[in-house]
Parts: sequence; structure tokens; C-alpha cells
Amino acid sequence: MSTMLSNINNNNGNSHTYSNEGVNGSSSDSSGNRPLYQNERIGNENENQQLSQSSQRQATPQQHQDQSSNYIARPTFGLVDFVLQRTLGTGTFGRVFLTKFKHTEHYYAMKVLKKSEIVRLKQTEHVNSERFILSQVTHPFIVNLYCTFQNDKNLYMLLEYVIGGELFSHLRRAGRFTNDMTRFYSAEIVLALEYLHDNEIIYRDLKPENLLLDSRGHIKIADFGFAKKLEDRTWTLCGTPEYLAPEIIQSKGHGKAVDWWALGILIFEMLAGYPPFFADSPFGIYEKILVGKIQFPPHFDSHAKDLIKRFLTADRTKRLGNLRGGSEDVKRHKWFRGVDWQGLYDKQIQAPIIPPYQHPGDTSNFERYPEPTEETNSPIGLTGDPHRHLFADF
Ligand SMILES: Nc1ncnc2c1ncn2[C@@H]1O[C@H](COP(=O)(O)OP(=O)(O)OP(=O)(O)O)[C@@H](O)[C@H]1O
Ligand SMILES: [Mg+2]
Repeated sequence: MSTMLSNINNNNGNSHTYSNEGVNGSSSDSSGNRPLYQNERIGNENENQQLSQSSQRQATPQQHQDQSSNYIARPTFGLVDFVLQRTLGTGTFGRVFLTKFKHTEHYYAMKVLKKSEIVRLKQTEHVNSERFILSQVTHPFIVNLYCTFQNDKNLYMLLEYVIGGELFSHLRRAGRFTNDMTRFYSAEIVLALEYLHDNEIIYRDLKPENLLLDSRGHIKIADFGFAKKLEDRTWTLCGTPEYLAPEIIQSKGHGKAVDWWALGILIFEMLAGYPPFFADSPFGIYEKILVGKIQFPPHFDSHAKDLIKRFLTADRTKRLGNLRGGSEDVKRHKWFRGVDWQGLYDKQIQAPIIPPYQHPGDTSNFERYPEPTEETNSPIGLTGDPHRHLFADF
């Protein structure tokens, strides 16, 4: 079993606060002005085996659908084969740890979810859907799920360790991103959303905390806790207040269009350093979203402004990305003019921030969290497990 994981190469916090300070347009990274156009490809000789396989793939939905994921169903190893090292992030029902596989010394991220909390908060369906969707998808800008398992108390999701930390931290440190940096991250996200939507998956939780940077500074979308395989339109109220589309707040049902709305919010936030609609309470934010008045800072590029307005169109039948041309309309928008989409997919475009790290288990790009006092890794709960049947696929 250790050989199975030994092939896996691992080279590779959540409350919003906004302030107007530090909004000066400068990035801590001087390479932030590099455009991502046709003539800007760079080699990817450092890419690991796994990624070089994916770089041969084409960015077409047909080919995406043919790819098999790295997911190992029913692994023979379990928690005892891992050493949990430190917390990388925390969430509603659990936390994500840096972990080392004892047999190979490779690092992974382990998302640990407490079953009793999931059940109490009625999130069973979301968690099962997160496992199912992540086990199916393979894309250069989406985090890899290798396997899942459970004990009496917890569910465990073994993910690739994405060493560069949250885009959120990089954005807060920089204040705001330049137009070129913002376009780079947005374009990688467009490719990931296009892939998900082509596979009838809506992501529903786009925000800087859920976007990680890999070792070379490329986007990895994490946290599929709200993602949904689409059947028809869906009506659940979920997501983060600042990023909710009007049709979600108004419970009109929503589909793929919500992700394009959220991308509009994200592009605004990257360029401005704060989101377009914010207030002290979720209710205040919802009110502003429904009024829909966007105040653009004067330094915004005019094409970026146009794109944001087209994404932040309340009527989803008129929203860019949700029209007849789908994601192609987005890729053809003037702000993205000249982007080398294939080179981008192949990770041949130099990223604007190269996260610093000393070794594969370096966690310096993540915030510090207090470690749990109760042992998250106790193999057997004292009270038995009334919930196992709810998570039969883990
Ligand atoms: N694969 C990973 N590599 C590195 N860090 C990760 C990884 N996955 C998650 N993290 C860190 O842990 C944080 C929380 O993870 P995630 O967003 O998946 O959980 P969550 O927000 O608790 O989920 P939920 O919204 O389902 O409660 C992330 O914001 C990120 O900082
Ligand atoms: Mg999250």
C-alpha cells in the first residue's frame, strides 16, 4: 500500500476583515506586471511527474472527461499511517492539517471533519457531495483528492498539500493586486470554472480563502464543501455573504451563473483590496447586493470594469458566462485579450507571486492556528459510531 502513495508526488482561516489601509496598488512581488500573453511562455522543467502528465492534456471538455482522477477508493491504509503535524486552516466542522505519510515521508493536507458536527448541522449531503465531486475531477487548477477514510469519530480527506498558502493572505499582504496579477489569477479560475461547468458541477464558494497557490504560484481551488453536481436548478442558501448572487438571496434557484457572479466579486476584490458590497452584518451585505450599486475606485482598468459589470448583472439570463456562448464569451472579453489559454492551462505562464518555501513540509505561507486540545486522531471513539452508515463512501 505504501507503494501506491509513494507514487504521489506532493511537491507542491476564514473571517473577512476589510480596511482601507494599504490600498496602494503595490505588490510585495516585483514580478507582478508580467503579462500572460502568447509570447510569455516559460518552460516547466521543474514540474513533477504528475503535473507533466496533466500538461500534455488539452483544455477541452471532451478530453477532460476522459481523464481519470488520482482518487484511490477504499484505501488499505488509514490514520495510523500518518503523522498529523500542524493546523493549516480551520472550518465549521473540523480542520485541515499538514500531515506526513509515515512510509514515504511525503507531505499531504488532511481535512478532518467531525461526524457528530456534520450531522448536527445537517451537512451530511454537502460532505458526501464534496467527496464525490473531488474524487471525480482532475484539473491543473483544482486541488487533488487522493483518498478518504473514517473512524468512529471523524471523516478524513487526504489532499495534495498546496504549499503556497491562501490567495487571501497574499492579497491582504499586498493590499491589492495589479491589473496584470488579477488577470492572471482570474484567467486560471476561468479555466477551472469552465471545466467544472462543462462537467455540470457548480462550485458555489469562490473567495480568496478557498484559493491556494501551488509551489510555482498557480491557482489551486480547494474546499468543495458547497460544490454541487447539477441536475436542475437548485435552491439551497449557502456560500459566503459577500459573494452571494441576488438569485441565491432571493431563493429564485440558481445554477452555473452564480460562479460567474462570484468571479465578478473576486476580480473587484483583487483589484480594490475589498469587495464591492460590504457591511457589518450579512443582512446589510444582502441589501447592498440587491441594490446592486458598484462604486469603482478610479484606478480600475476600463476593460476590467466592463467585465465586472457584466458578471455583476443581477438578471442571470443576461450575465456574462451564462449566455449562449458560455465560458467562451468570458475568454473572448477584451480584458482577457491576448491571453494564451493553452499556455496558461499548461502552467507555462510565469505566475506573479512565487511562494517562498524551504522544504516540502514548510508551512510558513499559512497563518498560525491554536492546535486542538482534544486528540483529533484518537482511532476509536468511546461511544461507538451511530453515523457510519451516513458516510458509507468514505
Ligand atoms: N490541500 C490543501 N493544502 C493546503 N492547505 C489547505 C488545503 N486544503 C485546505 N487548506 C487550508 O485549510 C483551510 C480550510 O479548508 P477548507 O476551505 O477546505 O475547509 P472549510 O472552509 O472548513 O470547509 P467548509 O467550508 O466545508 O467548512 C483553507 O482555507 C486552507 O487554508
Ligand atoms: Mg473554506
